[in-house]
Amino acid sequence: MTQETLPGTTDRRLAALLTILAENATIVTSGVRIAREIGVAPSTVRRSVRQLRGLGVRVKAQRGAGYFLEGVPDILTPEMLRQRLKGSLFGKHIYHFFKTDSTNRVALELGHAGEPEGAVILAEEQTAGKGRAGRAWQSERAAGIYVSLLLRPRLAPVQAPLLTMMAGLSARSAIEAQTGLTTDLKWPNDLLVRGKKVGGILTEMHAEPSQVRFVIVGIGLNVNQEKFPGELGTTASSLRIETGKQVSRLELLVWLLREFENDYNRFLREGPAGVTQKFEAVSSYAHGKRVRVTNGTASFAGTTAGLGPEGLLLVKRDDGLVVTVISGDVAEAR
Ligand code: BTN
Repeated sequence: MTQETLPGTTDRRLAALLTILAENATIVTSGVRIAREIGVAPSTVRRSVRQLRGLGVRVKAQRGAGYFLEGVPDILTPEMLRQRLKGSLFGKHIYHFFKTDSTNRVALELGHAGEPEGAVILAEEQTAGKGRAGRAWQSERAAGIYVSLLLRPRLAPVQAPLLTMMAGLSARSAIEAQTGLTTDLKWPNDLLVRGKKVGGILTEMHAEPSQVRFVIVGIGLNVNQEKFPGELGTTASSLRIETGKQVSRLELLVWLLREFENDYNRFLREGPAGVTQKFEAVSSYAHGKRVRVTNGTASFAGTTAGLGPEGLLLVKRDDGLVVTVISGDVAEAR
């Protein structure tokens, strides 16, 4: 078994212990058996159990018998993911953190260090999750999916933003398959359910003038949050709030990565038209929506008029001029 390690990634033993306990959930497994399976001393198992508890995993000890989990934790262990993603682009290098500042930050570092395409960096909790336009991304422990994917596509830098939209489409399909919810996409990167944000995508890249070196697609999904602090409560929601049911992060993530791989291969094979057409077909924001576009201190109102070939949003201003929105915030104008 290989386990990717970096400072702060989940220790191999901890991940293996969690996998054994989760696979035998609610059954008592002896410390000796666990020690044998992981290949460590029983004292190390005891230490790892303490560490897991410190991370919020409810491991119970039964005197003289062993350990069991009080409930099946919805933790995205690299082993479980790797098993489910065997043979896929994203099943090879999985970096898991119980806590990190930002998975995009880690992925950028890996990209610069020459990490191959397909690396998956995920965290149960982010302390400095990055959102678009310098905003923060709330990343409550084990409630959402916080994942970054490292890609090395042969694309011109102008085409890279299409990956943001493509990721939105992949996430939309995964959410629909897992929960039955229909998600709206707000250009370029918001996933909305009943007008509230349940996910977002932050794409960052390193490129030469004519060629992308690598792209990081960071995806944040609000899955099992029960509420959001302060102001966020009025604009954000989670799949759990919208369905009234707990959603398996593991199943959703596996689905998302499979969809993403299919969509990515199709995009590289067939070009951007498939992405822009699909986006236009499913996003209520693509055509005929009254919006206000804000970029720094400048802002204007208009009506959306589809997407350009590179996926940029076209907005017909009230004075009749059609403007291509390169960056900025798009909000529904009422
Ligand atoms: C947005 O809508 O503003 C984009 C949010 C992107 C959040 C994800 S969570 C995983 C990855 N790591 C980060 O620091 N940000 C992205």
